[in-house]
Amino acid sequence: MRCGSWLLLGTCLLVSGPTAQGSPGQCPSLCHCHGDLQHVICDGVGLKKIPRVSDATRLLNLQRNDLGSIPTGAFGESKGLVSLHMQHCQLREINSQAFKGLKKLVYLYLSDNKISSIKPGAFDDLTELTYLHLDGNQITELTKGIFSPMVNLFILQLNDNRLRELRPGTFAGAKDLRWLHMSGNELTTLHPGSLDDVENLAVLHLDRNKMSTYPGVAMSKLRVVEELTLGRNPMRTIPDNAFQSFGRYMEKLHLDNMGLEKFSDGAFTGVTAVKSLHLENNKLRALPRSLEFGTITNLTLSNNPWGCTCQLAPLRRWMDSTRNRPDATCASPPHQKGKQVRDSAAFGICKTKPKKPRKSTRH
Ligand SMILES: *[C@@H]1O[C@H](CO)[C@@H](O)[C@H](O)[C@H]1NC(C)=O
Repeated sequence: MRCGSWLLLGTCLLVSGPTAQGSPGQCPSLCHCHGDLQHVICDGVGLKKIPRVSDATRLLNLQRNDLGSIPTGAFGESKGLVSLHMQHCQLREINSQAFKGLKKLVYLYLSDNKISSIKPGAFDDLTELTYLHLDGNQITELTKGIFSPMVNLFILQLNDNRLRELRPGTFAGAKDLRWLHMSGNELTTLHPGSLDDVENLAVLHLDRNKMSTYPGVAMSKLRVVEELTLGRNPMRTIPDNAFQSFGRYMEKLHLDNMGLEKFSDGAFTGVTAVKSLHLENNKLRALPRSLEFGTITNLTLSNNPWGCTCQLAPLRRWMDSTRNRPDATCASPPHQKGKQVRDSAAFGICKTKPKKPRKSTRH
């Protein structure tokens, strides 16, 4: 008999369903439960299908089970779920209406599966979802409007997938998105308009992708980016005004390991708050005049062929005026080769205020 005699008759009726798999009113077999079924923990217990849990359950942890797919309506009886953990479940696709009924879900963890396809409507009903983790999957594209039910989405983790491009409408409806992590994909292009729906992004991670040009138009609608990572993209130049639309907010910028050869002179126009700037492992000889060092406290410059002429004098003055003296080796001119910028005598002859060159170079 499934229900003990101490249980109320109503509960017994509720749990005596036709399936042998278990009933939503009791702790699923192999799982353990706490707090009157509020937490149902089935971590790595060999489940082959999604167990039924009642609407009393707030947290359902299914990670490390070989589940393969999420059938439509799988959570139809679990309307109270707030947190759903399905990492390492060998999931391959997310069907339309997979999470139907989960109108209270706030946390959804789908990392480290084999998801290659997310069907339109897959996230229908997830109006309260705030944290969505999809990293470590095989997602190649995102259908227009796929996140649109998620009007409260705050953090979206898509690191280590196979995304190739972002098109306009990808993030339609996710107007409150603040953190967007897309490191370790195969992005070559962020099309103009592709980030227009998420203009309040504060953290944007795009490192370890395949962009060979800076996606200036796509970025130009962002207003409040505080942290931007572009390291390990094969970009050779950074154009004028690259960060201008959010330059007052940007505190951290990672441009390391890119093969970067040059900044346009106005690359840092509008950048007034940067504290942490990472430029190591590039092919840079010079820094642009638009870069102001005043706010910087953490600067990495190593492994670049710095040209130790007066164009680097502002850098040297910053080094002299702070206790921060990062590694930066001169590659030229010949008599400075191998010297540290912080020690080189090349800057003694430089004027202290090189800011305003004479007008003759204009026109
Ligand atoms: C400088 O930034 C790097 C990269 O974000 C970080 O790992 C390091 O801890 C920072 N150093 C300091 C002194 O803040």
